[in-house]
Formats: sequence, structure tokens, C-alpha cells
Amino acid sequence: MQTLYLSADDPGCAETAAAIIRRGGLVALPTETVYGLGANGLNEAAVAGIFEAKGRPQDNPLILHIAAPEEMNTICQNIPSSAYTLAKAFWPGPLTMVLPVNGLVPKRTTAGLDTVAVRCPDCAITRDIIRLSGVPIAAPSANLSGKPSTTTAEHVRHDHDGKIDAIVDGGPCRVGVESTIVDLTEDRPRLLRPGGITPEQLVEVLGDLVIDKAVTAQIDKDAVVRAPGMKYRHYAPQEPVVIVAGSREKAAAYIRRHYAPGDRVLCFQEELPLYDGCNPLAYGAEEDVNSLSAGLFAALRELDDPSIGQVYARCPTGGGVAYAVQNRLKKAAAFHIVNAEEEA
Ligand code: TXA
Ligand code: MG
Repeated sequence: MQTLYLSADDPGCAETAAAIIRRGGLVALPTETVYGLGANGLNEAAVAGIFEAKGRPQDNPLILHIAAPEEMNTICQNIPSSAYTLAKAFWPGPLTMVLPVNGLVPKRTTAGLDTVAVRCPDCAITRDIIRLSGVPIAAPSANLSGKPSTTTAEHVRHDHDGKIDAIVDGGPCRVGVESTIVDLTEDRPRLLRPGGITPEQLVEVLGDLVIDKAVTAQIDKDAVVRAPGMKYRHYAPQEPVVIVAGSREKAAAYIRRHYAPGDRVLCFQEELPLYDGCNPLAYGAEEDVNSLSAGLFAALRELDDPSIGQVYARCPTGGGVAYAVQNRLKKAAAFHIVNAEEEA
């Protein structure tokens, strides 16, 4: 198939993309977080096409994207008041809520769960496309399953050219890591995936938050987890990644001692001079955590190269958006972390 390339600035872009969605096709869409691979979330066959294009395991449910907060009533039931509170505070924006699903949403979309993940993205062209298509759009991150997420239309072209109907180019994604996911179906709100809406912001609005263990530790692939996607190896280049924690100087000394030709160093802009001769790649500036989240996946994709031996990665510390960056990098490293303050 020939993939149609649309620019978000083209007049008629939204109508063309919406027409493809309405007839059951696949359209890659920009959002503020990452590009999604979209289809009519109420159409089983269209949703099956997403799983096939990504090579996604069937037990991993999809997020439904809506054009306006009040549309959650069309796909959910028994919505708790906390959902309205969060929608008012953070939608449109990088927040996904897990809520009780109603009978309209096919099992293929929810992977048979009695809940559905819902998000209203902060991206005007994509909200226009959802509105004009008249249905909620199911969209996982547009990367091939297991690979780093797509934050530009070029990343999507690389993974899906000739295999999907269209790609809407809305420029690079502002946030760069996927949305924060909060499960609101238990007594206490539970963070399933950190993202652009920080734990601190959620606690401020909700007064309470449980951090799911899948956020902080490696989950066995046979484990029963609340966010099925959390147990799969994720975001990862082909070669092993190790996070080197500790001060700038100690980390550089450790990495320079262990570096072998063919290895790469994924570091902060401020650290580039410390890694002369070690083929460093900066993904953003440590003093600007938003640049780190925006640049992380493009860097991990660049490092997804079979000729690379090993990647030594530097990870920001602290809360806020840094918490989401840590989560993605730790997953890319399969939680392999050395502390340069202690290791020789
Ligand atoms: O920022 C984002 O959320 C992007 C953009 C495109 O919106 N989408 C995204 O989708 O990251 P995906 O499929 O790559 O990640 C969705 C995660 C998966 O880990 C999945 O298991 C989880 O959400 N999920 C989906 N439905 C769920 C549900 N009902 N209960 C718990 N987790 C769910
Ligand atoms: Mg994904």
C-alpha cells in the first residue's frame, strides 16, 4: 500500500484523515506526547489492524482518544468524581485515565478488560480529526512493538511506510514521553505510568496516589499486572543499556574505565566534554528536564543499531518530569543500574 503523507498545516488534512478513520483505515497522528497509530476504536477490524501493524501482543489494551472531556461519558460508565476533577485540571493534556468501560467498546480494544484507558490529547489537529471522524480513536504509540516510541513523523515513516494508510505530520512532539496513566477504578488512585503530568501534580489535585510496582521495578512477563503493557521489554535499543548513576565526575571516570570501541554514551549536553573519544550522544540538557523528555526517544532510536556494543546512559534524578524520564530509561536498561560512587 502507498502511505499518504499529510501535513497538519494543509487545509483539508483533518477531513482527509478523518475519512480514512471512518472507513476503518490506519492513520498515524501527532500528539503532545508521542505519535500514535490511530484507528476507529469502536471497529474491531480496524483495531485488529493496529495490533498487526505494530506486532503488538493481543493482551495489551489500547488507549481511546477523545476530542473533548465530556466524551468520556460515551465510552465509560460509573465514572468516579475524581475523573471529572482530573479532566478539569489536566485535559486536554498528557494524562490517561483508566475507567470502567461501557458496552459500546469492543473487547479487542480493551483486551477483554472491564476498564478502558481514555485520553483527551493537547493537539488541535488530532482533536479535529477525532471530532470529524465521529468516533473515539484507539491509538498506541506508533513504534513497532518493543521499540522506542515515535516522536516525529519521520520515526513513524521508518517503522510503517507502505504498511499504513496515512501519516499526519504535526512536527516533533513537545513532551516526548507517553502520557501519565492513572487507574481510577479502585478505592485509591493508582499511578500505572509516569509522564508529563507529574506525581506531584496528581497528589495536589487528588490528595492521594498509590505508585504501582510496575513503575519502579522489572515485572515478570508472566505476572498479572494492572497495565499489561508494563511487563514487556520496552523502549529499548537492540544492545544492552546500563545506567551509570552518581556525580558527573565519578560517572565519567567509571564510563571511561569501562568504555570499549563500539560502545556509546548517552548523556546530558553539559557532559559532552567529559566523553571526548567515547562517541557521546546528548539527549537534552540536565538543567532543562523538558529537553530530556523531548529528546529521549529520538536518541534511543538513533542508538538502536546492531553495530553498537553497549550503551552507558546518564539519567536525571528527582521528581516531576524527571520521574518519567527515569522510568523510560530504566525500562530501556531493564533496570540495570550501576552506582559510580561505589563501583570501581
Ligand atoms: O501518550 C500516550 O499515551 C500515547 C499517545 C499516542 O496518546 N499512547 C500510548 O499508548 O502510549 P501505548 O499503547 O503505547 O501505551 C498504553 C499503555 C499500555 O501500557 C497499556 O497496557 C495501558 O496503557 N493500558 C491501556 N488500557 C488499559 C487499561 N484498561 N488498564 C490498564 N492499562 C491500560
Ligand atoms: Mg507504547
